[in-house]
Amino acid sequence: MDNIAGPPVEGDNFFGRAADINTLRELLEHHDLLLLGPRRIGKTSIARALMRAMREAGWRVVEINVAACLDERAFVEKLEAVLQQETASLGDKLWNSVSASLSAIRARIQTVRIPGMIGVELRAASAEDWTTVASELIALIARLDQRWLIYIDELPIMLLTRIIRGDPATGVERVRRFLDWFRNDVRGLPGAARVRWLISGSIGLDTLVQQHAMADTINTLRQVTLPPFTEPEATAMLDRLGARYGLALAPTDAATLLAAIQWLQPYYVQLAFSELRGLLAARPGAAPDTLIDATIEQVAQSSADNDFHHWEKRLAEQLAPATAGHARALLNQAAATRDGARAELLLATLAERLPNATAEDVKQIFVDLRDILLRDGYWGAAEGAEGRRYRFLLEPLRRWWRRRNTL
Ligand SMILES: Nc1ncnc2c1ncn2[C@@H]1O[C@H](COP(=O)(O)OP(=O)(O)OP(=O)(O)O)[C@@H](O)[C@H]1O
Ligand SMILES: [Mg+2]
Repeated sequence: MDNIAGPPVEGDNFFGRAADINTLRELLEHHDLLLLGPRRIGKTSIARALMRAMREAGWRVVEINVAACLDERAFVEKLEAVLQQETASLGDKLWNSVSASLSAIRARIQTVRIPGMIGVELRAASAEDWTTVASELIALIARLDQRWLIYIDELPIMLLTRIIRGDPATGVERVRRFLDWFRNDVRGLPGAARVRWLISGSIGLDTLVQQHAMADTINTLRQVTLPPFTEPEATAMLDRLGARYGLALAPTDAATLLAAIQWLQPYYVQLAFSELRGLLAARPGAAPDTLIDATIEQVAQSSADNDFHHWEKRLAEQLAPATAGHARALLNQAAATRDGARAELLLATLAERLPNATAEDVKQIFVDLRDILLRDGYWGAAEGAEGRRYRFLLEPLRRWWRRRNTL
């Protein structure tokens, strides 16, 4: 197993998560899944491991990443391309004919109508709606006696940053139509139950739809998340990496390292191991146990800036500016100590920022924000002697956050 901290991992580099894969497999028998979670928690990696398992079980599987899709047409184009490729790869007569039918739709995709997009109407007043063509693609594969898994990665980016941001006039309406297509049109197709969907992304699609009062559009998707590793799992991963790089850690050192990370998502364990390797390379012959503290500091230091910036950025991406400001203020307060901040004090901070709101309104805003920050992995609740506290889950992120917000 290689020490990879960043891109999706596959095959031997994918560690553990066997139980999670089984759960997802079982859920896919009857549900479409929405896998949301902060960046780098391993969504793409587990989706690919799941795809492999489904393929072995006889399903046809395809993956598209729609982060770069500027509109619905680009989405349909990508979908057509992978379905076409998958059906053609089978090489028999029936599949070839489906593949040919898919290809025949390609030309129509170029002229589809997308609501709110100026110019398109002028070019083709009689053009079909994009949903008609997209549904036909799905209908073609649903007709086959075969189960399908379609994995769509980064859908929230397409919906939020491309469509809503890119089209202030009708973007929200288009997103609603997109999600409605998915929920109603696709499900209404004959054989639709043979086609299962796995949708993932790091920006909260749940928060997005709530904000635009369209939570109903995703209520048929089963939401799933990826829990962090347990300490024994993370220790086993460190052992595996240690064996690969001749860098065995004594159990107490491994425990210290993991305690300092606190939230044992595999990415942060990989990151710590990689920092430790870097320190050892600079000091050949040093005993690993003398470098544990420096490793922890290194993880929370500026060299790792890119790894933490997205935590701050996503607040601005998915929340209104004033709300994002409140979230930052609450997090600044919680970052002050490892134990976090008491709920009452956080509420008081929010009340100070909202001098014209009633106590009831402040409480409601607090509860909404608290839940978003819980769901998105910023903080967790802990019961202490003097009541409930909210504290950062990822200790290196807390250190980074505190340093960043210290003058
Ligand atoms: N099962 C695993 N075993 C080992 N490392 C893992 C595993 N899952 C995730 N990782 C670590 O997390 C990193 C990111 O994984 P991945 O790209 O799958 O996450 P993601 O949630 O899709 O991230 P993004 O939101 O940025 O797309 C990998 O480079 C690796 O360091
Ligand atoms: Mg990913």
